[in-house]
Amino acid sequence: MPAKKAGPPLRYEELAVLRHLAQRGADRTPVAKSSRELGTDLGFLQQATDRYLISLARRGLILRTLDARKQRLALTPQGVALLRREFELLRRIFEGPGRLALTGAVASGLGEGRYYLSQPGYVVQFTERLGYTPFPGTLNVRVGSEDLLRTTSLREWKGIRIDGFSASGRTFGGATCLVARMNSQPCHLITPDRSHYTDVIEFVAPVELRKVLSLKDGQPVTLEIEES
Ligand code: CDP
Repeated sequence: MPAKKAGPPLRYEELAVLRHLAQRGADRTPVAKSSRELGTDLGFLQQATDRYLISLARRGLILRTLDARKQRLALTPQGVALLRREFELLRRIFEGPGRLALTGAVASGLGEGRYYLSQPGYVVQFTERLGYTPFPGTLNVRVGSEDLLRTTSLREWKGIRIDGFSASGRTFGGATCLVARMNSQPCHLITPDRSHYTDVIEFVAPVELRKVLSLKDGQPVTLEIEES
């Protein structure tokens, strides 16, 4: 798992700037706003607001451009992800652990799941932390476009951690598992730390899901996912 850049923690004021910009649509299109205007909106001095914007840009959370002498501000995907983490934090306080029901279609991958799930460093952890020795492989499910946006929150949910490790001269990344059911069959959604945002999500289970549920590529499945 690549190490995260630590840096100083985000200031509360910087988070307020990010939230304010997103409220004005800067999560979708750049917003034209001077530092003075932004400062007035938020009750900050212009110089301080400038410093917050510089810091946010340096952290890769916003993009700041000058166009016809007008400052334009836009949130980067990292900026949006940070706000989503804040949202999930508040949602957990008010609504408790997350639950999500969605549908998808069974898909085939590159056959890498079997290799990873056979690594003793993973098998030991799965057995201890999930309570079963997983079938060697991951079952891939392609999520429909209407459910896709809802799955982005899953990355922020609290789950069962599987730690990264080194073995035979290479490193294996960590992952997070969430309790799930596929067509009522108990399993876990697994999200590797290194994975990118895609429309494919992966599941591990004590059994061969394709066999137990008689699944073929393209077949629809119903999924229920729970936060731990
Ligand atoms: O990534 P790919 O779909 O190529 O396969 P894999 O992760 O190496 O897994 C081997 C096969 O087992 C695939 O056909 C998976 O869909 C399937 N599988 C399953 O039926 N049940 C599981 N619990 C895990 C994998």
